[in-house]
Amino acid sequence: MILGVPTETDPGETRVAVVPPVAATLVEEGYEVCVASGAGERSDWSDDDYRDAGCEIVADREAVFERADIVAHVTGLAAAADDDVDRYREEQIVVGQLGPYDLDEELALLADRGVTAFALELMPRISRAQSMDALSSMASIGGDKSAIVAAERLPKMFPLQMTAAGTVQPAEVFVIGAGVAGLQAIATADRLGAAVRGYDIRLEVKQEVESLGADFVELDLETEGTGDEQGYAQEMDEEFYRQQRKALTRVVGESDVVITTAAIPGRPAPELVTTEMVEGMDPGSIVIDLAAATGGNCDLTVPDETVEHAGVEIYGPTNLPATVAHHASQLYANNVRNFLQNLFQGDGRTLDVDDEVVDATMLTHDGEIRWVHPADREEESADATDSDDDDAGSAADGDSDTEAPDEGAETDD
Ligand code: NAI
Repeated sequence: MILGVPTETDPGETRVAVVPPVAATLVEEGYEVCVASGAGERSDWSDDDYRDAGCEIVADREAVFERADIVAHVTGLAAAADDDVDRYREEQIVVGQLGPYDLDEELALLADRGVTAFALELMPRISRAQSMDALSSMASIGGDKSAIVAAERLPKMFPLQMTAAGTVQPAEVFVIGAGVAGLQAIATADRLGAAVRGYDIRLEVKQEVESLGADFVELDLETEGTGDEQGYAQEMDEEFYRQQRKALTRVVGESDVVITTAAIPGRPAPELVTTEMVEGMDPGSIVIDLAAATGGNCDLTVPDETVEHAGVEIYGPTNLPATVAHHASQLYANNVRNFLQNLFQGDGRTLDVDDEVVDATMLTHDGEIRWVHPADREEESADATDSDDDDAGSAADGDSDTEAPDEGAETDD
């Protein structure tokens, strides 16, 4: 089996899908690994490092696509992958953070070409899948880096300082959304000495927030039905978000740093920090919006830019893991390798399509699109409910027709 590693094409992407130490293990496991010249350069891996790991270096992306049975991307398709869709060929396997929620005709093209594509973003939340979960490994890096960026940009120090020249109070950091990224942001901000508060729509994370040394902010809001069976937050109605913003206003106003990480898979991020709330913060404060890629939790956020409003900086980085490309690539490559190990049956060639992880992450296979966007799924189930209601309605009508004589009979009695 030949595993191909092309250079990433997104201009902001510095990571590479497979790093030499992981490539060496894959070679030991029987893979041939073919890498585009320079693919590892931006994450500090040279062509020689790959050669030493037993990889073949080929001239460019085209050569990788020609040679490989499996192509491993960091990001692809939805994220500036140029003409990749045209480069794939029949029976080729593609693995990466393919951005499934933004794909449309690309999926049909992949299916037409007989490509089997896997999106790592669709990894199911089961213990066995944790080692393959690129969303989590990258979110953890993003969370850590967000606290560091905030500490660097804030014109205040994070820790309490008691010096002969006076006492400086610790910075107040508020993290909204305590999933993987949020918990890591809390942990790092706490280690840097800030006074940290955390909040999440899912009350079950309270203990985790507190175990990291932060205070959990509880809002007087109904939280029934805020999480789904996968552990993700559910999308709530606009009235819920309105009440939430109202309740969060005071805490945001008291904070020097607000880090927001609230996301709903496949949906726009909920708006939790309004312009008005930003205006309530002290000048010099900073909002770091880790949900910028899906619309942002702050209404002032512009992806990958820093906006200044009323003396407050609002920064919306969409790819903080790319700022620590060496380690981010290392963790991502481990996710890819673990995924490949799970992908095939015992013969090492036949896809294990009945496996839960394989099934959940598969976008296209055997000429078909295998994945349904959550919005379409909801629409389908709403249509099904409507038609059930119609059937029930006509059944009820039918019943009332048949019951009428009985009522008549009762009257007659
Ligand atoms: P995420 O990236 O989808 O969302 C981030 C956080 O924002 C979540 O905690 C979510 O509850 C919160 N959020 C959403 N809307 C909000 C709102 N309106 N107000 C406040 N907070 C809001 O979630 P992430 O980080 O991927 O993880 C969510 C959960 O899944 C965590 O408990 C995590 O431990 C679990 N998980 C389990 C895995 C496994 O078992 N394999 C793998 C990854 C995560």
